[in-house]
Amino acid sequence: MALEIVVLAAGKGSRMKSSLPKVLHTLAGKTLLEHVLNTALALSPDKIHVVIGHQADKVKTTLENVLDCSTINWVHQTEQLGTGHAVVQALPAINPAATVLVMAGDVPMIQAATLLPLCQPTPGVNLLTAIMGNPHGLGRIIRENEHGSVREIVEHKDATSAQLEIQEINAGVLAASAKQLDQWLAKVKNNNAQAEYYLPDIIGLAVNAGVPVNASIAEDSTQIMGINSRAQLAELERQYQRQQAEHLMDEGVGLADPNRLDIRGTLRAGIDCFIDINAVFEQDVQLGKHVRIGPNVLIRNSQIGDHCVIEANSVIDNATIAENCQIGPFARVRPETKLHAGSKIGNFVEIKKSEIGAGSKVNHLSYIGDSTVGRDVNIGAGVITCNYDGANKHQTIIEDNVFVGSDCQLIAPVKIGEGANIGAGSTIRKNAPAHMLSLSKSRQIQIEGWKRPVKKQ
Ligand code: UD1
Ligand code: CA
Repeated sequence: MALEIVVLAAGKGSRMKSSLPKVLHTLAGKTLLEHVLNTALALSPDKIHVVIGHQADKVKTTLENVLDCSTINWVHQTEQLGTGHAVVQALPAINPAATVLVMAGDVPMIQAATLLPLCQPTPGVNLLTAIMGNPHGLGRIIRENEHGSVREIVEHKDATSAQLEIQEINAGVLAASAKQLDQWLAKVKNNNAQAEYYLPDIIGLAVNAGVPVNASIAEDSTQIMGINSRAQLAELERQYQRQQAEHLMDEGVGLADPNRLDIRGTLRAGIDCFIDINAVFEQDVQLGKHVRIGPNVLIRNSQIGDHCVIEANSVIDNATIAENCQIGPFARVRPETKLHAGSKIGNFVEIKKSEIGAGSKVNHLSYIGDSTVGRDVNIGAGVITCNYDGANKHQTIIEDNVFVGSDCQLIAPVKIGEGANIGAGSTIRKNAPAHMLSLSKSRQIQIEGWKRPVKKQ
């Protein structure tokens, strides 16, 4: 039996008060629409139709940048006249023999397992409902009597005060055959409080036609939560993060506070990792075993080996860090950096597009960029690789066992040979030979009779 999915994403999302279309706001680092499309794809439908309208091009290109959209049919709804009208726009491209599942682009946490039973072919409508402590703003499920069959759905703005007391709500997800959707939607009118063509009005029409309306009540109401306002988005973000935190703890990761962790992507972590408060993980991050992450650390798209320690307030971006490394506090490790085992990057050190050999140390206030640093190198405080001449970037090579004294500038391209020493305060413009001391020093002079300035009265 053919299954096609229609995702509604044409609305502006006025209640967000944003220049960004609502479905492009992010939950855990992914747009609301990406969450919904991933779930739709997981159901392996024959086709997915996404109805776009408000800032349609922006919505489409944003999604095309993060997902393979080759199987998606983008449908334009030029005027947003309601959810029923939106589905009508998609129908001409849908196989009349298909079952159609309609999903909302602003309900991001719904799971494939919850939707699967709805996708079974039916002579009527399969509907998903939920019981909400605070049903404000949602469509209410009107039943024949308290536990009887569903009669219709009434939108919040059209509901009587008695109907507003009902806590069972429309999750915004339903399925029916394409043929019947077409027939019912042709009959839907817009004589309501919002002057819109409501998709949920087909429920009343199905009941009148005497076909079954199978309403299943979702057990997990977080899956049903739709995003209409920034407050709802923030609330759902916390619930999502809490779920991820609990999953990590189940896998043997220690968290200082499960309410102060943010994973905006995927975090895989070995046992006995410990993550302190306010750590943020973006994109794809992998931690080995026994890794310690200090407070206020940001790690984006990086791998960190066993037994590493990342101290407070460090930022690690697109880097590969081998085992037993120590980073921070206040370190910045920038893209294309590779740290070998047991290396140490200290406070106020920035490393960019560089490789740091095993056991090497860059402990204080340095910038190492476009460099290859060998094993067991010691780089003193305040050393700068001057990699940029104003037009091009150049490489610095520092071989094994080099000692660079404090406050040196290494003017790239330059090579420091194995075992060389560089005297403190040197500006190195030429290659420094192996096993020798190189320094560039102005001689120290004394001014006799010099007086310290004194404060004017
Ligand atoms: C909708 C349901 C309500 C349900 C709630 C669940 C209707 C009329 N109401 O209300 O019963 O309880 O979802 O979250 O369906 N959209 C379009 N084109 C339009 C209008 C909307 O594509 O012309 C899209 C929006 O972008 C959004 C989705 O449809 O992704 C839902 O629209 P929204 O305005 O948020 O509906 P609700 O008021 O939340
Ligand atoms: Ca909504």
